[in-house]
Amino acid sequence: MRVTIFGTGYVGLVTGTCLADVGHDVICVDIDAAKVDGLNNGIVPIYEPGLEPMVKANHAAGRLRFTTDAASAVGHGDVVFIAVGTPPDEDGSADLQYVLAVARTIGQHLERPVVVVDKSTVPVGTADKVTAAIAAELTKRGVEIAFDVASNPEFLKEGDAVNDCMRPDRIVIGASSQVAIDRLKRLYAPFNRSHERIVVMDVRSAELTKYAANAMLATKISFMNEMANIAERVGADIEMVRQGIGSDPRIGWHFIYPGAGYGGSCFPKDVQALARTAHHNGYDARLLGAVEAVNESQKGHLFDLMLQHYGGSVAGKTVAVWGLAFKPNTDDMREASSRRLLAQLWEAGATVRAYDPEASHEAQRVFGEREDLVLCDSAHAALADADALVVLTEWKQFRSPDFARIRQAVADSVIFDGRNLYHPDEVEAAGIAYYGIGRGRSVRQA
Ligand code: UDX
Repeated sequence: MRVTIFGTGYVGLVTGTCLADVGHDVICVDIDAAKVDGLNNGIVPIYEPGLEPMVKANHAAGRLRFTTDAASAVGHGDVVFIAVGTPPDEDGSADLQYVLAVARTIGQHLERPVVVVDKSTVPVGTADKVTAAIAAELTKRGVEIAFDVASNPEFLKEGDAVNDCMRPDRIVIGASSQVAIDRLKRLYAPFNRSHERIVVMDVRSAELTKYAANAMLATKISFMNEMANIAERVGADIEMVRQGIGSDPRIGWHFIYPGAGYGGSCFPKDVQALARTAHHNGYDARLLGAVEAVNESQKGHLFDLMLQHYGGSVAGKTVAVWGLAFKPNTDDMREASSRRLLAQLWEAGATVRAYDPEASHEAQRVFGEREDLVLCDSAHAALADADALVVLTEWKQFRSPDFARIRQAVADSVIFDGRNLYHPDEVEAAGIAYYGIGRGRSVRQA
């Protein structure tokens, strides 16, 4: 099938590449000419395992093309995806200006019936706005062309996006016409071989499904962070508690890891946007508000533990930080807990020596040049001259460090483990003070 995708960001690029990989003829459109040029030369602007070779192979095979020419791209697709950004506006609602700009572009260039698909995470009711925007352009042109607008939310996880796209656990199609349902089923048939993964529903339910999924996952994390804070106060170890509850299939092992708070491009934004949608519709979503509030304070928790350890001040300290990305296997630092902690450390007069396997460039871009930040080339380089070590992202390479070496390098012999990667006994046996999240330990060490 012929597919057009507006937006070569995370979602658009991964989706387009995977659709090309199963044989569809895909054109990706972006207004950023430099990005399009780069992609046509095999330069993938994001770090995502497995993506670059797939982009190159499908581009070389002629199934995946990149362009800034919206008019010809609209003419190409039997299915036209809208996969542009929906950043939060001032009050936390999703800003639809880019989505609606694409809708107008489609209306300006449409020549034959097409199925338009919202892939971006958009508030309930957006498909109606997209429909109205396209229809308005057609009316201006004085033409009548049939089109459908469907919702097909993505459930990609950064760092594992190619896999999620090639082997989805479900494919949600929200559509009101049989034409749209049939066409999208045909598009996704290659991903739907071993068992039925497609769930067809009305458009509004599909739009809400995406938010419900992310809000549920964020809720699990905030719940566990709240338990961790209780555990810390009562002298229990949340890691034991986690193992004590995860085997109950009603609870499950996934997304019950306490930590330094959730970040990324989805959870913070989507929880807020859903709360705003509820509010606009006359409902006060108290649980969502609490999920967000717990996460906000959790992002400051490691700094509180540091102040506790250092008797109220970290001024003049040099802190090694392992991990800046919001999670492993990505260079993405959007809403990352590292941003909060580094800001707090700098504000308090500390210097940071940071190492992240992939996010150094992004960190340079986000923080700029500053005297109180040294971006290091290795985990060990970050420890040089450091007084304390903080672990913020659970990259595999941080999992079993040489504690004796850390003890030697880190002057105050203390680890603040924001992802509970280490066993407190092992760290303490090496003569290093240990603070984790919700492990009862920090209370004892104080
Ligand atoms: C998420 C959803 O998982 C995905 O389905 C959706 O399409 C987009 O949003 P992503 O933002 O890439 O994906 O990352 P995810 O792996 O879900 O992690 C989000 C954040 O939660 C990270 O900061 C991570 O460190 C944190 N997290 C996750 C926890 O703190 N504890 C957990 O148990 C799991």
